[in-house]
Amino acid sequence: MSEQANILEVNNLNVVLGQNTVLEDINFNLTKGAYLAIVGPNGSGKTTLMKTLIGLVKPNTGDVKMFGANIDDLPPGTISYVPQIKTMDKAFPARAIDLVMSGIQRRWSFKINSHDSDRVATIMHEVGAGDFIYRPLAALSGGELQRVFLARSLIRNPKILLLDEPATGIDLVCELSINKLITEYNQKFGTTVIMITHDWSAAYHHTNYVLLLNRRQVYYGESKTAFTDENLQLTFSHLGHGHGIKFGLKI
Ligand SMILES: Nc1ncnc2c1ncn2[C@@H]1O[C@H](COP(=O)(O)OP(=O)(O)OP(=O)(O)O)[C@@H](O)[C@H]1O
Ligand SMILES: [Mg+2]
Repeated sequence: MSEQANILEVNNLNVVLGQNTVLEDINFNLTKGAYLAIVGPNGSGKTTLMKTLIGLVKPNTGDVKMFGANIDDLPPGTISYVPQIKTMDKAFPARAIDLVMSGIQRRWSFKINSHDSDRVATIMHEVGAGDFIYRPLAALSGGELQRVFLARSLIRNPKILLLDEPATGIDLVCELSINKLITEYNQKFGTTVIMITHDWSAAYHHTNYVLLLNRRQVYYGESKTAFTDENLQLTFSHLGHGHGIKFGLKI
């Protein structure tokens, strides 16, 4: 497969959940190493789109191909997905390091070899989770848990990394370092990254492509030309809470 071949193809995707048409006529492709931000208001279908990409939600019409195949036929480890809201059962006995290790081994294990534990420690420091490697998951704050989940997804070395609002709930300093880390990871390993974010500035500065979503696809293309006033009006206004707001990204 050439470098420029599409590794993700989304064709005429329509998703109906209950009585709601949640996604309508979504079409886009990604090549290897692309970094895509999905941006849109609450309830615009971002999480549903990500779940449809990885096969957790089945489309009513249209299809998704990764590496030319159906998602269910891909080898394990091809994709890594960090869901939007992370909660842990407070009685769950594992520590932060165990959760990250489970990303490598795909099962719970308490026998950790030194090579793996070095990799885990390095990546946990990189995401700002170095101070609570051995802390029980139940004792972590939401933002701390978020970082541990991010470390778990990075250590799997996936070909496609999907992140649903990875920075939400994380303090600004850690958010900046996590944005930097994801960008470096994308560039160093050529990992294709798809990130849902409410941070227009991060999308503008860090990603190559933006999909503006409001049930329909308002814009798909290069990040630098996404955030026009017109596109943002179309994306955010007609849900009823954007009237009278001056949009546009302050760069
Ligand atoms: N299982 C379901 N059955 C019916 N409707 C659903 C279901 N799941 C989601 N929806 C609806 O689909 C719409 C899109 O939801 P989704 O979670 O994809 O939005 P989102 O863009 O990720 O929002 P947020 O920014 O709040 O995370 C919402 O109106 C939601 O209520
Ligand atoms: Mg969501």
